[in-house]
Amino acid sequence: MSQPIAEPPLKSLANFPIGVAVRAPQLAEPDAAALAARHFSQLTAEWEMKMEYVVQPDGSFRFDRADAIAAFARQHGQRLFGHTLLWYANEPEGFARLDESRQSFEGALRNYITAMVSRYRGLASGWDVVNEPVMENGEGLRESLWTRKLGQVGHFKVAFEAARAADPAAVLFINDYHLESRPAKLRRYMQLIEQLLAQGVPLGGIGCQTHCGADLAPGAITATLKALAGFGLPIHLSEMDVSVVDGGLLAGRAEALRRQAGLYAEAIDAFAALPDRQQFAFTVWGLRDKDSWLKRENAADAPMLFDDAGRPKPAFAAVVDALRR
Ligand code: XIL
Repeated sequence: MSQPIAEPPLKSLANFPIGVAVRAPQLAEPDAAALAARHFSQLTAEWEMKMEYVVQPDGSFRFDRADAIAAFARQHGQRLFGHTLLWYANEPEGFARLDESRQSFEGALRNYITAMVSRYRGLASGWDVVNEPVMENGEGLRESLWTRKLGQVGHFKVAFEAARAADPAAVLFINDYHLESRPAKLRRYMQLIEQLLAQGVPLGGIGCQTHCGADLAPGAITATLKALAGFGLPIHLSEMDVSVVDGGLLAGRAEALRRQAGLYAEAIDAFAALPDRQQFAFTVWGLRDKDSWLKRENAADAPMLFDDAGRPKPAFAAVVDALRR
Protein backbone atom coordinates (compact mmCIF):
# COMPACT_ATOMS: atom_id res chain seq x y z
CA MET A 1 0.00 0.00 0.00
CA SER A 2 1.55 3.36 -0.97
CA GLN A 3 1.98 6.03 1.69
CA PRO A 4 -0.55 8.91 1.64
CA ILE A 5 1.08 11.76 -0.28
CA ALA A 6 1.86 14.59 2.18
CA GLU A 7 4.51 16.72 0.49
CA PRO A 8 3.39 19.99 -1.18
CA PRO A 9 2.76 19.78 -4.94
CA LEU A 10 5.78 21.31 -6.70
CA LYS A 11 3.61 22.87 -9.40
CA SER A 12 1.64 24.77 -6.74
CA LEU A 13 4.85 26.32 -5.36
CA ALA A 14 6.33 27.33 -8.73
CA ASN A 15 5.60 30.47 -10.75
CA PHE A 16 6.61 28.56 -13.87
CA PRO A 17 5.78 25.18 -15.41
CA ILE A 18 7.44 22.21 -13.70
CA GLY A 19 7.89 19.30 -16.11
CA VAL A 20 8.81 15.65 -15.95
CA ALA A 21 9.83 13.06 -18.53
CA VAL A 22 7.57 10.02 -18.55
CA ARG A 23 6.92 6.82 -20.49
CA ALA A 24 3.37 5.70 -21.25
CA PRO A 25 3.50 2.44 -19.22
CA GLN A 26 4.49 4.42 -16.10
CA LEU A 27 1.27 6.43 -16.33
CA ALA A 28 -0.65 3.15 -16.07
CA GLU A 29 0.99 2.50 -12.66
CA PRO A 30 -1.19 4.14 -9.94
CA ASP A 31 1.72 5.33 -7.75
CA ALA A 32 3.70 6.80 -10.65
CA ALA A 33 0.58 8.36 -12.15
CA ALA A 34 -0.26 9.97 -8.80
CA LEU A 35 3.22 11.52 -8.54
CA ALA A 36 3.12 12.77 -12.13
CA ALA A 37 -0.33 14.31 -11.68
CA ARG A 38 0.36 15.85 -8.25
CA HIS A 39 3.67 17.59 -8.82
CA PHE A 40 4.01 18.43 -12.50
CA SER A 41 2.36 20.84 -14.94
CA GLN A 42 4.08 19.63 -18.11
CA LEU A 43 4.94 16.19 -19.49
CA THR A 44 7.74 15.29 -21.90
CA ALA A 45 7.72 11.89 -23.59
CA GLU A 46 11.06 10.40 -22.59
CA TRP A 47 11.04 8.04 -25.57
CA GLU A 48 7.71 7.52 -27.31
CA MET A 49 7.60 10.71 -29.38
CA LYS A 50 11.00 10.03 -30.90
CA MET A 51 11.39 8.70 -34.42
CA GLU A 52 12.89 5.47 -33.06
CA TYR A 53 9.46 4.67 -31.60
CA VAL A 54 7.09 6.43 -34.02
CA VAL A 55 8.54 5.63 -37.47
CA GLN A 56 8.05 1.99 -38.50
CA PRO A 57 10.36 0.18 -40.96
CA ASP A 58 7.69 0.45 -43.67
CA GLY A 59 7.53 4.23 -43.13
CA SER A 60 4.22 4.20 -41.25
CA PHE A 61 3.83 6.04 -37.93
CA ARG A 62 2.58 4.76 -34.57
CA PHE A 63 1.28 7.30 -32.08
CA ASP A 64 -0.35 4.97 -29.55
CA ARG A 65 1.95 5.76 -26.63
CA ALA A 66 2.35 9.44 -27.48
CA ASP A 67 -1.44 9.65 -27.55
CA ALA A 68 -1.61 7.96 -24.13
CA ILE A 69 0.77 10.54 -22.65
CA ALA A 70 -1.19 13.33 -24.35
CA ALA A 71 -4.45 11.96 -22.94
CA PHE A 72 -2.98 11.89 -19.43
CA ALA A 73 -1.80 15.49 -19.82
CA ARG A 74 -5.23 16.60 -21.05
CA GLN A 75 -6.96 14.74 -18.19
CA HIS A 76 -4.76 16.48 -15.61
CA GLY A 77 -4.66 19.93 -17.17
CA GLN A 78 -0.98 19.60 -18.01
CA ARG A 79 0.99 20.89 -21.01
CA LEU A 80 2.70 18.41 -23.32
CA PHE A 81 6.23 19.12 -24.55
CA GLY A 82 7.25 17.51 -27.83
CA HIS A 83 10.59 15.71 -27.73
CA THR A 84 12.08 15.42 -30.32
CA LEU A 85 11.56 15.92 -34.04
CA LEU A 86 15.16 15.53 -35.27
CA TRP A 87 18.00 13.88 -33.36
CA TYR A 88 21.31 12.65 -34.74
CA ALA A 89 20.82 9.49 -32.68
CA ASN A 90 17.62 8.53 -34.52
CA GLU A 91 18.01 7.56 -38.19
CA PRO A 92 15.05 5.21 -38.76
CA GLU A 93 15.18 2.71 -41.60
CA GLY A 94 12.08 4.28 -43.12
CA PHE A 95 14.11 7.42 -43.83
CA ALA A 96 17.55 5.95 -44.34
CA ARG A 97 16.09 3.84 -47.16
CA LEU A 98 14.79 6.93 -48.97
CA ASP A 99 17.62 7.26 -51.45
CA GLU A 100 15.73 9.19 -54.06
CA SER A 101 16.40 12.88 -54.70
CA ARG A 102 16.80 15.38 -51.91
CA GLN A 103 13.35 16.67 -52.81
CA SER A 104 11.61 13.40 -51.96
CA PHE A 105 13.64 13.05 -48.76
CA GLU A 106 12.74 16.60 -47.77
CA GLY A 107 9.11 15.91 -48.60
CA ALA A 108 9.09 12.79 -46.42
CA LEU A 109 10.60 14.70 -43.52
CA ARG A 110 8.15 17.58 -43.86
CA ASN A 111 5.34 15.02 -43.93
CA TYR A 112 6.59 13.40 -40.70
CA ILE A 113 7.00 16.70 -38.86
CA THR A 114 3.59 17.92 -40.05
CA ALA A 115 1.91 14.67 -38.94
CA MET A 116 3.57 14.76 -35.52
CA VAL A 117 3.29 18.46 -34.69
CA SER A 118 -0.25 19.00 -35.98
CA ARG A 119 -1.44 15.92 -34.02
CA TYR A 120 -0.76 17.66 -30.70
CA ARG A 121 -1.52 21.22 -31.76
CA GLY A 122 -3.17 23.10 -28.91
CA LEU A 123 -1.77 20.74 -26.26
CA ALA A 124 1.97 20.87 -26.99
CA SER A 125 3.51 24.04 -25.55
CA GLY A 126 6.61 23.57 -27.65
CA TRP A 127 8.93 21.18 -29.45
CA ASP A 128 12.56 20.21 -29.44
CA VAL A 129 12.90 20.60 -33.20
CA VAL A 130 16.61 19.67 -33.39
CA ASN A 131 18.14 17.84 -30.43
CA GLU A 132 21.89 17.82 -29.61
CA PRO A 133 23.24 19.53 -32.75
CA VAL A 134 26.68 20.37 -31.28
CA MET A 135 29.60 17.94 -31.20
CA GLU A 136 30.53 16.64 -27.75
CA ASN A 137 33.87 18.52 -27.80
CA GLY A 138 32.24 21.73 -29.06
CA GLU A 139 34.47 21.84 -32.16
CA GLY A 140 31.62 21.82 -34.65
CA LEU A 141 28.11 20.63 -35.45
CA ARG A 142 27.20 16.96 -35.60
CA GLU A 143 26.81 15.17 -38.90
CA SER A 144 23.74 12.95 -39.30
CA LEU A 145 21.41 11.48 -41.91
CA TRP A 146 19.54 14.81 -41.74
CA THR A 147 22.61 16.99 -42.40
CA ARG A 148 23.94 14.65 -45.08
CA LYS A 149 20.65 14.77 -46.99
CA LEU A 150 19.66 18.40 -46.38
CA GLY A 151 22.90 20.19 -45.41
CA GLN A 152 23.71 21.72 -42.03
CA VAL A 153 21.74 24.94 -42.58
CA GLY A 154 19.13 23.18 -44.70
CA HIS A 155 18.13 20.62 -42.10
CA PHE A 156 17.47 23.34 -39.54
CA LYS A 157 15.45 25.39 -42.03
CA VAL A 158 13.35 22.44 -43.21
CA ALA A 159 12.63 21.17 -39.68
CA PHE A 160 11.85 24.52 -38.09
CA GLU A 161 9.76 25.79 -41.01
CA ALA A 162 7.74 22.57 -41.17
CA ALA A 163 7.11 22.69 -37.41
CA ARG A 164 6.18 26.37 -37.59
CA ALA A 165 3.67 25.70 -40.38
CA ALA A 166 2.14 22.78 -38.42
CA ASP A 167 1.67 24.73 -35.18
CA PRO A 168 2.31 28.49 -35.32
CA ALA A 169 1.70 28.80 -31.57
CA ALA A 170 4.25 26.21 -30.40
CA VAL A 171 7.62 27.43 -29.10
CA LEU A 172 10.33 25.82 -31.25
CA PHE A 173 13.56 24.84 -29.49
CA ILE A 174 17.00 23.53 -30.04
CA ASN A 175 18.27 21.53 -27.10
CA ASP A 176 21.67 20.31 -25.92
CA TYR A 177 23.56 18.96 -22.91
CA HIS A 178 26.79 19.40 -20.93
CA LEU A 179 26.61 23.14 -21.60
CA GLU A 180 27.36 23.78 -17.91
CA SER A 181 30.49 21.61 -17.88
CA ARG A 182 32.02 22.06 -21.35
CA PRO A 183 32.72 25.76 -22.11
CA ALA A 184 33.67 25.01 -25.75
CA LYS A 185 30.33 23.26 -26.29
CA LEU A 186 28.42 26.18 -24.77
CA ARG A 187 30.32 28.63 -27.00
CA ARG A 188 29.55 26.63 -30.15
CA TYR A 189 25.89 26.25 -29.11
CA MET A 190 25.62 30.01 -28.69
CA GLN A 191 27.28 30.60 -32.06
CA LEU A 192 24.74 28.25 -33.63
CA ILE A 193 21.86 30.15 -32.01
CA GLU A 194 23.23 33.42 -33.40
CA GLN A 195 23.58 31.83 -36.86
CA LEU A 196 20.05 30.45 -36.86
CA LEU A 197 18.54 33.74 -35.71
CA ALA A 198 20.55 35.64 -38.32
CA GLN A 199 19.32 33.23 -41.03
CA GLY A 200 15.70 33.83 -40.05
CA VAL A 201 15.13 30.28 -38.78
CA PRO A 202 12.01 30.49 -36.53
CA LEU A 203 13.92 29.46 -33.40
CA GLY A 204 11.69 30.39 -30.47
CA GLY A 205 13.45 28.90 -27.46
CA ILE A 206 16.69 27.49 -26.08
CA GLY A 207 16.92 24.13 -24.32
CA CYS A 208 19.56 23.38 -21.71
CA GLN A 209 19.26 19.70 -20.74
CA THR A 210 21.29 19.92 -17.49
CA HIS A 211 22.21 16.26 -17.10
CA CYS A 212 24.98 16.63 -14.55
CA GLY A 213 27.04 14.85 -11.92
CA ALA A 214 26.90 15.73 -8.23
CA ASP A 215 30.54 16.80 -8.56
CA LEU A 216 29.58 19.73 -10.85
CA ALA A 217 31.05 22.97 -9.50
CA PRO A 218 28.49 25.17 -7.73
CA GLY A 219 27.71 28.20 -9.92
CA ALA A 220 28.17 26.43 -13.27
CA ILE A 221 24.42 26.01 -13.88
CA THR A 222 23.77 29.63 -12.90
CA ALA A 223 26.45 30.94 -15.27
CA THR A 224 25.16 28.78 -18.12
CA LEU A 225 21.53 29.90 -17.80
CA LYS A 226 22.64 33.53 -17.59
CA ALA A 227 24.69 33.15 -20.78
CA LEU A 228 21.83 31.49 -22.68
CA ALA A 229 19.30 34.02 -21.40
CA GLY A 230 21.27 36.76 -23.15
CA PHE A 231 19.41 35.99 -26.40
CA GLY A 232 16.17 37.11 -24.77
CA LEU A 233 14.40 33.87 -25.77
CA PRO A 234 12.42 31.45 -23.54
CA ILE A 235 14.66 28.97 -21.75
CA HIS A 236 13.70 25.35 -21.13
CA LEU A 237 15.80 23.70 -18.45
CA SER A 238 14.73 20.56 -20.19
CA GLU A 239 16.14 17.34 -18.73
CA MET A 240 17.68 17.78 -15.31
CA ASP A 241 19.03 14.84 -13.40
CA VAL A 242 22.01 14.72 -11.04
CA SER A 243 24.01 11.51 -10.97
CA VAL A 244 25.45 10.56 -7.60
CA VAL A 245 27.83 8.05 -9.13
CA ASP A 246 29.25 10.22 -11.96
CA GLY A 247 32.76 11.46 -11.35
CA GLY A 248 33.35 8.88 -8.63
CA LEU A 249 35.42 11.37 -6.72
CA LEU A 250 32.79 12.19 -4.12
CA ALA A 251 33.30 11.48 -0.43
CA GLY A 252 30.52 8.93 0.04
CA ARG A 253 26.82 8.71 -0.72
CA ALA A 254 25.60 11.15 1.93
CA GLU A 255 27.91 13.86 0.56
CA ALA A 256 26.81 13.07 -3.00
CA LEU A 257 23.11 13.37 -2.06
CA ARG A 258 23.86 16.64 -0.27
CA ARG A 259 25.59 18.05 -3.35
CA GLN A 260 22.74 16.74 -5.52
CA ALA A 261 20.24 18.69 -3.41
CA GLY A 262 22.41 21.79 -3.73
CA LEU A 263 22.55 21.55 -7.52
CA TYR A 264 18.78 21.11 -7.88
CA ALA A 265 18.25 24.13 -5.62
CA GLU A 266 20.80 26.16 -7.59
CA ALA A 267 19.06 25.27 -10.85
CA ILE A 268 15.67 26.37 -9.48
CA ASP A 269 17.16 29.62 -8.16
CA ALA A 270 18.91 30.32 -11.48
CA PHE A 271 15.77 29.52 -13.47
CA ALA A 272 13.55 31.62 -11.19
CA ALA A 273 15.98 34.54 -11.62
CA LEU A 274 15.30 34.61 -15.37
CA PRO A 275 12.87 37.29 -16.61
CA ASP A 276 9.34 35.85 -16.38
CA ARG A 277 8.90 35.84 -20.17
CA GLN A 278 11.98 33.62 -20.47
CA GLN A 279 10.85 31.00 -17.95
CA PHE A 280 9.50 28.38 -20.35
CA ALA A 281 9.69 25.32 -18.04
CA PHE A 282 11.89 23.49 -15.55
CA THR A 283 11.85 19.77 -16.39
CA VAL A 284 13.38 16.81 -14.60
CA TRP A 285 14.28 13.73 -16.61
CA GLY A 286 12.32 11.11 -14.70
CA LEU A 287 9.86 10.59 -11.87
CA ARG A 288 11.57 8.29 -9.33
CA ASP A 289 15.15 7.08 -9.13
CA LYS A 290 14.13 3.71 -10.53
CA ASP A 291 12.56 5.44 -13.56
CA SER A 292 15.81 7.19 -14.51
CA TRP A 293 17.66 6.18 -17.66
CA LEU A 294 20.86 6.55 -15.62
CA LYS A 295 19.89 3.50 -13.53
CA ARG A 296 20.52 1.39 -16.62
CA GLU A 297 24.09 2.69 -16.65
CA ASN A 298 24.60 2.11 -12.90
CA ALA A 299 21.97 0.54 -10.64
CA ALA A 300 23.49 2.39 -7.66
CA ASP A 301 22.62 5.77 -9.12
CA ALA A 302 19.86 7.89 -7.56
CA PRO A 303 19.46 10.96 -9.84
CA MET A 304 15.90 12.14 -9.23
CA LEU A 305 13.79 14.02 -6.64
CA PHE A 306 11.94 10.91 -5.46
CA ASP A 307 13.45 7.59 -4.39
CA ASP A 308 12.52 4.21 -5.87
CA ALA A 309 9.43 4.05 -3.64
CA GLY A 310 8.34 7.55 -4.68
CA ARG A 311 9.33 9.12 -1.37
CA PRO A 312 10.80 12.66 -1.47
CA LYS A 313 14.59 12.87 -1.11
CA PRO A 314 16.76 15.72 0.21
CA ALA A 315 16.78 17.02 -3.38
CA PHE A 316 12.99 17.36 -3.28
CA ALA A 317 13.15 19.29 0.00
CA ALA A 318 15.84 21.55 -1.47
CA VAL A 319 13.63 22.25 -4.50
CA VAL A 320 10.66 23.07 -2.23
CA ASP A 321 12.83 25.46 -0.19
CA ALA A 322 14.14 27.12 -3.35
CA LEU A 323 10.64 27.51 -4.80
CA ARG A 324 9.49 29.08 -1.55
CA ARG A 325 12.30 31.65 -1.51
C1 XIL B 1 17.12 9.03 -23.37
C2 XIL B 1 16.01 8.27 -22.64
O1 XIL B 1 15.96 8.71 -21.28
C3 XIL B 1 16.29 6.78 -22.72
O2 XIL B 1 15.19 6.09 -22.13
C4 XIL B 1 16.45 6.38 -24.18
O3 XIL B 1 16.78 5.01 -24.20
C5 XIL B 1 17.55 7.20 -24.84
O4 XIL B 1 17.26 8.59 -24.73
N1 XIL B 1 19.28 13.62 -24.04
C6 XIL B 1 18.06 13.59 -24.64
C7 XIL B 1 17.09 12.50 -24.35
O5 XIL B 1 17.67 14.55 -25.32
O6 XIL B 1 16.24 12.21 -25.47
C8 XIL B 1 17.79 11.25 -23.89
O7 XIL B 1 16.77 10.39 -23.41
C9 XIL B 1 18.79 11.58 -22.79
C10 XIL B 1 19.84 12.52 -23.28
